[in-house]
Amino acid sequence: KQGLCLFQWETSLPAPMFSRNDVSIWSILKKCIGMELSKIAMPVILNEPLSFLQRLTEYMEHTYLIHQANTTTDSMERMKCVAAFAVSAVASQWERTGKPFNPLLGETYELIREDLGFRWMSEQVSHHPPVSAFHAEGLQEDFLFHGSIYPKLKFWGKSVEAEPKGIISLELPKYNEAYTWTNPTCCVHNIIVGQLWIEQYGNVEVINHKTGERCSLIFKPCGLFGKELHKVEGYILDKSKKKLCAIYGKWTECLYTVDADTFDAHKKSDKKNSEEKKSECLIRPEEMPLPDGDTVQVIPGSELIWRIVPRPDNSAEFYAFSTFAMQLNELEEGMKGVLPPTDCRLRPDIRHMEKGDMDSASAEKKRVEEKQRLSRKNRSKSSEEWKTRWFHQGTNPHNKAQDWLYSNSYWDRNYSLLPDIY
Ligand SMILES: *[C@@H]1O[C@H](CO)[C@@H](O)[C@H](O)[C@H]1NC(C)=O
Ligand SMILES: *[C@@H]1O[C@H](CO)[C@@H](O)[C@H](O)[C@H]1NC(C)=O
Ligand SMILES: *[C@@H]1O[C@H](CO)[C@@H](O)[C@H](O)[C@H]1NC(C)=O
Repeated sequence: KQGLCLFQWETSLPAPMFSRNDVSIWSILKKCIGMELSKIAMPVILNEPLSFLQRLTEYMEHTYLIHQANTTTDSMERMKCVAAFAVSAVASQWERTGKPFNPLLGETYELIREDLGFRWMSEQVSHHPPVSAFHAEGLQEDFLFHGSIYPKLKFWGKSVEAEPKGIISLELPKYNEAYTWTNPTCCVHNIIVGQLWIEQYGNVEVINHKTGERCSLIFKPCGLFGKELHKVEGYILDKSKKKLCAIYGKWTECLYTVDADTFDAHKKSDKKNSEEKKSECLIRPEEMPLPDGDTVQVIPGSELIWRIVPRPDNSAEFYAFSTFAMQLNELEEGMKGVLPPTDCRLRPDIRHMEKGDMDSASAEKKRVEEKQRLSRKNRSKSSEEWKTRWFHQGTNPHNKAQDWLYSNSYWDRNYSLLPDIY
């Protein structure tokens, strides 16, 4: 089992990405406006060489924030860490315009990172609608992190919107606390012409079910003036909705906390100033709003709670991956006998794409998708039903919503009766 602990991390992928410039995306998509994209076969060149299960694992890049929450005795301070973790979990989406591969039914992914103090596993538990369930735990038993995500993709002509339906839960056993939240909506703009860019917007409410405290955050849409691009702000409230402190920053960069009154006073004066300046820079929808150069404007008295790790220098050549993402598909010799045969690392189409062999990637993608279709057809003819292996459907104990619950046995590594999906 220790074979999964890697010390020599990759710092690039085997081959750089292809240019997407010569693909006529429009010819594929024009028939599909308003449709759900999971039902449309997309050319592999629009992908990145990771499965959606691997992309989800990127939630864990800033796990230190959870460890920090565990070691903090004040519940408001813990909420700051958890809120920062919730925001940091979507930071890896910045500039990631490639589409991850749709996981096949029964596909799994695991990751053990002793250096970051967690182990993670996930399973594709439903095909239509596509649902991915995950379960992670602190290696020193300081947390549990789990959820099920149903990424609902919609095509709107010039953009693709991904609404990540599903609940995310974090438990801190030491405090007998559970927090839940949902992720913001992610939108990829200019998929037909112009430069692709990514926006996240919507409300995210992190609830501490034990104390009734909540952190209510808004991921701001970029707005007509581009001024709000990437901004996140909100408050931590106690159970009677009294503001305890403000949180602000950018999901692409950093987050600060500051006293709520100071924050409100600052916003008021900032609003006055910007009304005077409002004029020149109205952006047209097909343009990418330029970040205003200024990074987050720090209000005096603020405390930094999270800052993003810079992307590696070669990131642009490799699908805008972070260092964490570059390592997700690594398959060392020692791992081959240990991983279940359903692990994403063994998926042939993703592996070919990673090596830059697009023709084989495309052919293999078609083959495994066809195999999936055939085995579904076979099941429909018999009385056999698909059985998820590591999760079962149930009620989330904290907010009573429908969820997928971990069956607690993955790490026993009993792989008997696993399906042959590749
Ligand atoms: C979690 O916090 C408690 C209390 O501060 C501490 O005793 C314990 O070692 C922490 N666990 C980890 C893994 O940091
Ligand atoms: C479907 O059933 C046929 C006939 O029983 C079998 O040959 C084939 O391997 C099955 N395919 C899959 C993908 O299960
Ligand atoms: C492995 O799982 C199978 C099927 O669930 C079960 O029948 C078997 O007893 C398990 N083996 C061990 C060693 O636990």
